[in-house]
Amino acid sequence: MSDAAPRGSAPRARRRRSRSEELRVLRVLASAGADRASIPITSLEVGERVGASQQAADRHLLALERAGEIARARVGRRPTIAVTPAGLDALRAEYMSYRRLFEGPARVELAGILVSGLGEGRYYLSQPGYASQFPARLGYAPYPGTLNVKLEGEALRRAALVRHWNGIRIDGFQASGRTFGGATCIPSLIQGSPGHLIRPDRTHYADVLEFVAPICLRETLGLADQQPISLTLEES
Ligand code: CDP
Repeated sequence: MSDAAPRGSAPRARRRRSRSEELRVLRVLASAGADRASIPITSLEVGERVGASQQAADRHLLALERAGEIARARVGRRPTIAVTPAGLDALRAEYMSYRRLFEGPARVELAGILVSGLGEGRYYLSQPGYASQFPARLGYAPYPGTLNVKLEGEALRRAALVRHWNGIRIDGFQASGRTFGGATCIPSLIQGSPGHLIRPDRTHYADVLEFVAPICLRETLGLADQQPISLTLEES
């Protein structure tokens, strides 16, 4: 029997290595201001900043561009690079994994505004395929509906970090000939009252967070639309 590495593991290791180099390039670009605007920079300069040859820098930039994580253009003869929202998201994921390693589970405090949705929360939460999963995974049967809280500005930016947290999984399922998607739940306090942020895998309204709770929050806390809502989100 041979003790050679399994077939395919060398290219995989190489790919992992170049991914970590790509992330380093992305971090250097963002730190140089390419997270906010296009910056003029050549692949030679990128290579110098990360301690790599121009060829290696070219390769990394091409991979980042293909992944939609940077956008390249030219101003006159000068090449420019911007880190895209997908690139920032990749950096955010890295940041969150280090953050958790050194500082433990995160906790984010935010404020938003209570808004009404289209009554879809009640419909989805009443589906037996979802309802049957909640008691064991969240520790309660949620009130049938979701409380919608709209975020703006800085709160939106901080809430984006939560996307990379580990949460409690709710699985998708098929029923009545259609597919219901999965979701992730994050333990939360809504005006001090316990519940969970529920984040559908496919979400349309990035600026509206939806919460489930064991009680009807509007009734119990006397909440009304447009009122400010304080939120605490906790990584599990
Ligand atoms: O989508 P929409 O906001 O119209 O409502 P829903 O998700 O069907 O929820 C029904 C109502 O219950 C809404 O007014 C929610 O804001 C509210 N709700 C609540 O007060 N407490 C909860 N734990 C969940 C929903």
